[in-house]
Amino acid sequence: MAFPIQRLRRLRQHEAFRRMVRETNLAPSDFIYPLFVVEGRDRREEIASMPGQFRLSVDLLVKEAREVVALGIPAIILFGIPDRKDERGSSGSDPNGIVQRAVKAVKDQVSGLMVITDVCIDEYTDHGHCGIVKDGRILNDETLDCLRTMARTHAQAGADMVAPSDMMDGRVGAIRAELDQAGFPELPIMAYAAKFASCFYAPFRDAAGSSPQFGDRQSYQMDSANRREALREIALDVEEGADIIMVKPALPYLDIIAAARAQMLLPVAAYQVSGEYSMIKAAAQAGWLDESRAMMESLLSIKRAGADVILTYFAKDAARLLR
Ligand code: PBG
Repeated sequence: MAFPIQRLRRLRQHEAFRRMVRETNLAPSDFIYPLFVVEGRDRREEIASMPGQFRLSVDLLVKEAREVVALGIPAIILFGIPDRKDERGSSGSDPNGIVQRAVKAVKDQVSGLMVITDVCIDEYTDHGHCGIVKDGRILNDETLDCLRTMARTHAQAGADMVAPSDMMDGRVGAIRAELDQAGFPELPIMAYAAKFASCFYAPFRDAAGSSPQFGDRQSYQMDSANRREALREIALDVEEGADIIMVKPALPYLDIIAAARAQMLLPVAAYQVSGEYSMIKAAAQAGWLDESRAMMESLLSIKRAGADVILTYFAKDAARLLR
């Protein structure tokens, strides 16, 4: 019953047919837009390694947030870049810290937008690691206390969801317990469940000034080679109370996204990280790729692999094309 009876090209001949039988569609509601917030007023600094992305002061962040809602994007995720860094990342847990103030401002002034916060101390520590350091080692359980406080202060500032990205063992459970105790039993957690020790975070670290000052992140982020371990990480975060689980990066880990989708019932998010964005931007700037098509094809692939939600620096550009 194969050729010439079967001709798969029959349904490819007209755009209307192609649209009709298309298995995967993107929509602005699929996206979460990551934003970097800095101290000061009227500050808008382009990030050199991420063309088209900016570090914004709170007043300009509010304007940006209004644009994001207008494009039909349901949520932003905030990353804070503080003026002051120390060993324990204490400015990250300051009720009056940069992210806490940013959350408050956006929630007060912009309606209809969910504000998610990244919970991790690396942007706030002088050594750039995601945990408390002692004798060159990253301490797990001591770090959980910092994460609990940070998550609670984000909730108290009005965050709609918290997203731990540190990869310490037990942090989802610790944050869940803290939120419940503090009167936020209904606040969801999006866990960076399978976060790989990836070179594709480099432009982000440049943006946030969060490169580790010694060593690397391989003692806490995952080995790129491990699929089964990724599923264990995901299963543990689900047990500990995660509401959404995330795979990060996205495009080099589509198999992990597909496996997570197949094995888990809860929503799966995928983070198209800074390096994935910058690669496409750079190739487009060199005239080697069509930027819009590369953007849409990569986003579509991530969705086709099984992601329900995509964190992407392309959120606004993609939403504009999809309207
Ligand atoms: C850690 C964090 C990182 C990213 C998101 N949260 C950096 C890291 O683990 O080094 C990377 C995001 C990106 O590359 O776009 N707070």
